[in-house]
Amino acid sequence: MPDDHALRSPAPLTAARPKAPLSGRAAVPGDKSVSHRALMLGALAVGHTEITGLLEGEDVLATAAALRAMGAGIERKGNGRWHVNGVGVGGLAEPEDVIDLGNSGTAARLLLGILATHPFTAFVTGDASLRSRPMRRVIDPLSRFGARFLSRDGGRLPLAVTGAESPVPQIYRLPVPSAQVKSAVLLAGLNTPGETSVVEPQATRDHTERMLGHFGAQVRVEREPDGARRITIEGCPELVAAPIAVPGDPSSAAFPIVAALLVPGSEVTAANVGLNPSRIGLLTSLREMGADIAFENERSAGGEPVADLRVRAAPLAGAEIPPERAPSMIDEYPILAVAASCARGRTIMRGLAELRVKESDRLTGIAEGLQRCGVNVTVEGDDLIVDGDGAPPKGGALIATRLDHRIAMAFLVLGLAAREPVQIDDARPIATSFPDFVPLMNRLGAGLAEPV
Ligand code: S3P
Repeated sequence: MPDDHALRSPAPLTAARPKAPLSGRAAVPGDKSVSHRALMLGALAVGHTEITGLLEGEDVLATAAALRAMGAGIERKGNGRWHVNGVGVGGLAEPEDVIDLGNSGTAARLLLGILATHPFTAFVTGDASLRSRPMRRVIDPLSRFGARFLSRDGGRLPLAVTGAESPVPQIYRLPVPSAQVKSAVLLAGLNTPGETSVVEPQATRDHTERMLGHFGAQVRVEREPDGARRITIEGCPELVAAPIAVPGDPSSAAFPIVAALLVPGSEVTAANVGLNPSRIGLLTSLREMGADIAFENERSAGGEPVADLRVRAAPLAGAEIPPERAPSMIDEYPILAVAASCARGRTIMRGLAELRVKESDRLTGIAEGLQRCGVNVTVEGDDLIVDGDGAPPKGGALIATRLDHRIAMAFLVLGLAAREPVQIDDARPIATSFPDFVPLMNRLGAGLAEPV
């Protein structure tokens, strides 16, 4: 079902400068990372987990379908309201068919972690984008638990995994800053007797460890002598069903936020945005560039800090974004690069190697797309450099979205600021993370439309 893109024809979409400023309140969809984890941990808990605010995007629906195929009871009760009837840690059953995770790297890598310590064989695949992404980064640590993998060349999907019968606990130091790899190892450790630890030299999003604690697992977070974070989980707990209120996704909020900053005179409130400190590098960066973003109504939802963000258009200045900030804004570089192309001066975004292995090679996709729009952009090693003069870029280009939702949304936002309309060749990938993006942006006054 997730790969039904292949059955539908591409959906081009155009963004042009709106005649009036953007204004209004944007209800940001549920956080994708938290939504995947809520379904997965709900499925491994004992009892009924009630989830509100679940993101109903294709990626998360793929996770729901996969867990159902392995015996978890997962039901939609209403808009964003889902019930999960868990099978308990280690209680999933062999799926009858191939598990298709569509476009979702998070679904694939986290589920492989779970499967690595369930003693049956499962076959996993995804769409063309996911089939091109590296899985060796999870295959290697998960093999140490005793799981066996048979994959395509380069550790690509489709692959078969046979989970360990007698898993061996691990201490694993992350070679790349990846919350997906960290989570895969912790989730494998869940059904492994003894303690499993992940050491991360650079902190990545911490939703897995937070939510494991929320469901009653014993999780410790300590500092190594070199400053790295060590997360340790005590294996084989009984996870107890617990309600989850999913906060709005800061990575989705990023698009209306930057649109409001770039369209002169705009004032937009992005409501209920998750502000987990491991996710807010974009807001820090935009504020350094001169953005006017006020946090209102700060509160807590489902163990995560949230607020409404009031954004007013403002002239932006270039800034240097340090490499150590990358994990806290890894999905936001396409939209930050768009903001940078409208800023005055040079923006240097450093340490972006991981962007090459996202839903598409985003470093190349951003640079090529901006170049087509008349932006002065260069890639030097793993750094992206954008020079702006404070005036809107030319635009007037057709952008290839490469099965990448964030490339699609970022370039539509550029079209709202550019002198000439920007067209994307295919808006379908947007449904993976932000199904309501087009109507939501249009309610703010964006006027996104099919090309005539
Ligand atoms: C995610 C982690 C990040 C991010 C992805 C979601 C997660 O990936 O890009 O969109 O939910 O753990 P990496 O862990 O590969 O950096």
